[in-house]
Amino acid sequence: MAEDLAILYGSKEEQYQSLIPQIRGLLEGENDLVANLANTAAALKEQFGWLWVGFYVVKENELVLGPFQGPVACTRIKKGRGVCGSSWAEAKTLIVPDVGKFPGHIACSSSSRSEIVVPVIRHNEVVAVLDADSTELSQFDTTDQQYLEEIITLLNF
Ligand code: SME
Repeated sequence: MAEDLAILYGSKEEQYQSLIPQIRGLLEGENDLVANLANTAAALKEQFGWLWVGFYVVKENELVLGPFQGPVACTRIKKGRGVCGSSWAEAKTLIVPDVGKFPGHIACSSSSRSEIVVPVIRHNEVVAVLDADSTELSQFDTTDQQYLEEIITLLNF
């Protein structure tokens, strides 16, 4: 399956390498954060076809749903709750190969099987998280981590 897709679309690395200049182009010259988060989520969804990809933004000590692509999602997540809240509390990227085995995972969609959450850190504070969910087990790895961490540096938080 992964090999078939690699023939069609290129390897995961190649896909990120072609996507990053596109995202740079989308963000260049636009300083509206919501517009930029929305286009970043859409570009990732178009490229990879994940179930859900989007942002939760820290507001009044909660994560609040921001621009995303995919099924409707829970709107507020407390620090330390679920994968997103844990990534926020630990200020580090979390890769979850099987969400069924993550204690406290918040199931916004029953189709989600694996997940990656990348914190956006500015001045030593987590200001948002980028969350991606897949219908496949073990979809995300350190290649996704590396490139998603690069992509979030482009955002104008
Ligand atoms: N699964 C996440 C919640 C967000 S949705 O997947 C969009 C979590 O456990 O934090």
